[in-house]
Amino acid sequence: MSAAAVAAAGGSEPEQGGPGRCRGYRGAMIVAIDGPAGAGKSTVARALAAALGFDYLDSGALYRCVALASLQAPEISPAEHAAALDVSLGERVLLDGRDVTQAIRSPDVSARASVVAADQAVRLALLARQRELLAKGDWVAEGRDIGTVVAPGAELKIFLVASLQERAARRAGELGADPSQVEAEMSVRDARDRERDHSPLQAAPDAVVLDTSGLDVATVTARAVDLVARARGSDRP
Ligand code: DC
Repeated sequence: MSAAAVAAAGGSEPEQGGPGRCRGYRGAMIVAIDGPAGAGKSTVARALAAALGFDYLDSGALYRCVALASLQAPEISPAEHAAALDVSLGERVLLDGRDVTQAIRSPDVSARASVVAADQAVRLALLARQRELLAKGDWVAEGRDIGTVVAPGAELKIFLVASLQERAARRAGELGADPSQVEAEMSVRDARDRERDHSPLQAAPDAVVLDTSGLDVATVTARAVDLVARARGSDRP
């Protein structure tokens, strides 16, 4: 979406009430998994989607693709990159037909992603993309604002947390990087994600908060599967 289009839309926060509203579980279900970096969202969301046979949306990959595009073509605004984004998400992430699965995980792209994610015009363009995807079928969608903004009507919202030290240690292990450096960078990005004006990282009031500190993936996934079963059960007449 162009800056003009955002201005025309009032430049305000998106309306609440996107996908998930009035969706009975028999027709379709959205499980929103939000939380800070390194809390285990991706691993748990993927495992949960596989266990349930749901589609999986990694919304962070969209922000990372805008960040990569904007690093590669800085003369174009992040909002324009977001509006024109040609991306395919799946086992591999394709940007303009190129495999960027690894490239979008670099420290430079991570840092840039949290900057472009604070741009409201970027968020509005990516919001529309996410809502289009989530409009049909069953999804496990992970990010920072799935339960609060993208799919406030999601049938189940899980907010994963863990201590900064543990999150940094996990991410450093994945990247083969120095834990103290990852911790410093993560704390800057956390602050930016939490303190931005538009769709800041926060738990939805009706989210189930799960602290994953000291828990392995299998345990957290089993808890999530249990929460889905309960959410479905509570829908039953
Ligand atoms: O989940 P991740 O680390 O891949 O996310 C990359 C960046 O995008 C991170 O700074 C947070 C931001 N993001 C966001 O603002 N909203 C989302 N729904 C997903 C990610």
